[in-house]
Amino acid sequence: MTAEPTTRPAPKLARAKQLEMYHRATKTLPGGTNSNFRAWGEDTVYVDRGKGGKVWDIDGNEYIDLRMGYGPVILGHGDDRVDDYVNERMRLGVSFSLTSEDEVVALETVKQLNPWLGKVRMTVSGTEATMHAMRVARAYTGKTKIVKFEGQYHGVHDYALVSVAPNNMADLGSEDNPVALAWGRGIPEAISQTIIPARYNNLEFLRRLFEREADQIAAIIVEPVLGNAAGILPQPGFHKAMRALTEAFGILLIFDEVKTGFRFARGGAAEYFGITPDLATYAKAMGNGYPAAAFGGREEVMSVLPDKVSHGGTYAGNRVAAAAARKTLEILRDTDALETVHETGRRVQAGLRQVIDAKGLPFHFTGHPAMFGVMFTDKVATEYRDWANTDHELYDAVAVGMHARGAMPEPDSREPWFMCEAHAGGDTVDRIVSIFADSLSATLELRARRQPLPHETEVAYGSPSGH
Ligand SMILES: Cc1ncc(COP(=O)(O)O)c(C=O)c1O
Repeated sequence: MTAEPTTRPAPKLARAKQLEMYHRATKTLPGGTNSNFRAWGEDTVYVDRGKGGKVWDIDGNEYIDLRMGYGPVILGHGDDRVDDYVNERMRLGVSFSLTSEDEVVALETVKQLNPWLGKVRMTVSGTEATMHAMRVARAYTGKTKIVKFEGQYHGVHDYALVSVAPNNMADLGSEDNPVALAWGRGIPEAISQTIIPARYNNLEFLRRLFEREADQIAAIIVEPVLGNAAGILPQPGFHKAMRALTEAFGILLIFDEVKTGFRFARGGAAEYFGITPDLATYAKAMGNGYPAAAFGGREEVMSVLPDKVSHGGTYAGNRVAAAAARKTLEILRDTDALETVHETGRRVQAGLRQVIDAKGLPFHFTGHPAMFGVMFTDKVATEYRDWANTDHELYDAVAVGMHARGAMPEPDSREPWFMCEAHAGGDTVDRIVSIFADSLSATLELRARRQPLPHETEVAYGSPSGH
């Protein structure tokens, strides 16, 4: 006999206004959104507002936000300290294509927090930052190829969209000889062939690759954890050994700190793992959600700018972004906001651990308490290909069930949960844990009764992981 459900069913979300907006928006915006990664078909969320750790959609549904805009909002939505300063500065005019003191102070603070940096430049997005860092690496070394790890996302320029997030691991090619898999059409073959995919946590693979092709490889670009694959962690000593290998073979190391920067530690993953890269990219937490980003590096490597390498941008260092970065970084430097974010992440993880252990499910946390994934598996994942062997169907269904109950993680297990300072207040942590618990119980009951599990709507060519 089938067991009767014991868990409260998920409340139905009001969706009428969002559905109407979806049908209206799809007439103008492909998929009804400004990014493929937000296009969730008829489940697409149309936001009204956010405050602190919460977000409301246009139907009035309230959620504890665990996506935090894919990571940038480290303090909380609508943070008055940042917004007041930005408002004050923007009234002086926003775009001059001239340089303001806010830009200088923002980048001085980036350097203060990452003392290994020699020179830094602002960009508007993480995509631009990785694109420019790659170009600087090529210019400095006079070599063309760049190595990247499978499953890592470095933005939406042609050089970054290689071997990012296929659902089917066979698309990546064989384990010994991975192929440069372009994500979507329109990326010239000649460009994707300048990118060599490698396997994260696999030093032997890197050594063989460097022995064969070091004379053509300018750099390896590395997300210090696989931030777009649930935050899969480096194995002990991996980064140090990789740093040593790059030095031995004359290859630059680019740390893509777009997700980890100012989040894992004030000095990002470089400080957290004790690594000094040659170049790094920053965005997200740098501006608490305003479009501030940067790339920088060792003095000598960055010396190709401004004379030998092109970099510009009408909006690079614009007043709004510079003011937001200045204020956000000052808060991260001068207050215990980051310790609060970390402690809150640990509290949430402790609660989830109890819930999952009580169900007897094998699982691991990936990433850092400030940005972590939940992987249902008994084997610790060490590279992107391992994600396929986790019970991501269970995770995705739990995430969808959490939306209905008032908390919003990404409905794709490859995207971590992001903690912000504002999550520390009130009963937010307890609510996150109880919403997760209810959703997990309901999902397990569905599974026990062999009913289909809810899942995200996928975009045409892959999953919404990354952005
Ligand atoms: C590690 C990493 N690099 C680069 C990017 C691209 O940044 P943006 O979306 O600001 O272009 C992202 C975005 O998620 C990212 O996670």
